[in-house]
Amino acid sequence: MVFTFVIRKTSTMKIFGISIFLFALIGLAACQKTAVSTSDCTGTTPTYLTNVKSILDSKCVSCHSTGNQSGGIDLSNYSSCKNAKDKIVGSVQHASGFSAMPQGGAKLDDATIKTINCWSQNGAPE
Ligand code: HEC
Repeated sequence: MVFTFVIRKTSTMKIFGISIFLFALIGLAACQKTAVSTSDCTGTTPTYLTNVKSILDSKCVSCHSTGNQSGGIDLSNYSSCKNAKDKIVGSVQHASGFSAMPQGGAKLDDATIKTINCWSQNGAPE
């Protein structure tokens, strides 16, 4: 009776352990994929007016306009976006040390984060 219980417990724990291991692997693969797709800027040269402004206008300016600068950040014009570029990238990547943005909304998709990151990497051109 006791013996059966021990065996059962052991195999349940094994399955549990293997599941955790598999989940960890999947998680790791997902993270690596994200890191590569958002940071490789080869051949990608977004500009503020063509690529970045529309993203910020639709996702951020409701809380970050000239008249409503949440956290002291105005994302409604080129010069203040350029000044805040490092903070913008950190916040949309949900990097540690930055407030995750958009606040209260879903994380931006990888292609959008890549556009913002590569714009910043290229010196934030207008
Ligand atoms: C619903 C309102 C809201 C939206 C939408 C929003 N923010 Fe914010 N944001 C805030 C508030 C409030 C703060 C200040 C408090 C804080 O840092 O959490 C802030 C702070 C920030 C900061 C300063 C963070 C830091 O760590 O210093 C940055 C940069 C920023 N937001 C960028 C963005 C960007 C980029 C978007 C769009 C992708 C965005 N925010 C969307 C409300 C918002």
